[in-house]
Amino acid sequence: MSAKLIDGKAAAAQLRSAIADEVTKFRAATGRAPGLAVVLVGEDPASAVYVRSKGKATIEAGMESFEYKLSADTPEAELLDLLDRLNADPAADGILVQLPLPAHINANKVITRIDPDKDVDGFNPVNAGRLAIGLHGFVPCTPLGCLKLLRAELGDLSGKSAVVIGRSNIVGKPMALLLLGDSCTVTIAHSRTRDLPAVVRQADIVVAAVGRAEMVKGDWLKPGACVIDVGINRLDPAEPGGKGRLVGDVDFASASQVAGAITPVPGGVGPMTIACLIRNTFVSAARRAAFRYGKDL
Ligand code: GUN
Repeated sequence: MSAKLIDGKAAAAQLRSAIADEVTKFRAATGRAPGLAVVLVGEDPASAVYVRSKGKATIEAGMESFEYKLSADTPEAELLDLLDRLNADPAADGILVQLPLPAHINANKVITRIDPDKDVDGFNPVNAGRLAIGLHGFVPCTPLGCLKLLRAELGDLSGKSAVVIGRSNIVGKPMALLLLGDSCTVTIAHSRTRDLPAVVRQADIVVAAVGRAEMVKGDWLKPGACVIDVGINRLDPAEPGGKGRLVGDVDFASASQVAGAITPVPGGVGPMTIACLIRNTFVSAARRAAFRYGKDL
């Protein structure tokens, strides 16, 4: 392996500790703690794990966590009523509804109902629009975490060529806009892109967010490229050599021979996603209370 390993776990711990320091000052100044309301509908096991880690990280940062667990058959109107109450609740600085939602609930309607100024996931169309035209809002946590890792690794990103593989609303599209905001020359690649290896080979920065295990190979990369792997895929335990391992969208064994720096899976982007949720929740509380903080979080 010649690539430098980008330690997302360490970067996330550092960010969470810096926020915890600011939360201490916020509590002293305002007499209250920032609060995050997390809504889980149904019993999807992966979502339950994510919600638990979000609640734990919220409390560790000195903030309040409010968890709402609704049954899988909750009517859409009931969920929308809960969001109206949370929008009006001064203790909830941040609100998020864990996705995916059961099929009878319209996720876009739900996301749109969250007050954009409490939308710490950054999924509300108002925040998507703010990001697109360069206004302050909330940026989705996973691409924000990737941007922080890239800036820490490369410094100024201006003029670099970046390829984002994947065009989801949660990762691919906001990631491309963030890189454009840092003056990269950005290409968004997707399932219909022709000759993907050739497109990836011209990039200084590669962000892989397609959800296909070990798709990006080492010989697709420009030597020295910085590779951010957003994928989390569990290999089939029946597959030879798979053993149910967690792997990314990048074939780590070959990519780490060619890349200049690369995130591992697990321990790369994942911890940064949660740290950025904590960051967005603190920023929401600070904006709502007109509390000024010194650090660049
Ligand atoms: N499901 C998968 N990722 C996310 C996320 O970042 N936020 C929410 N709310 N749901 C998700």
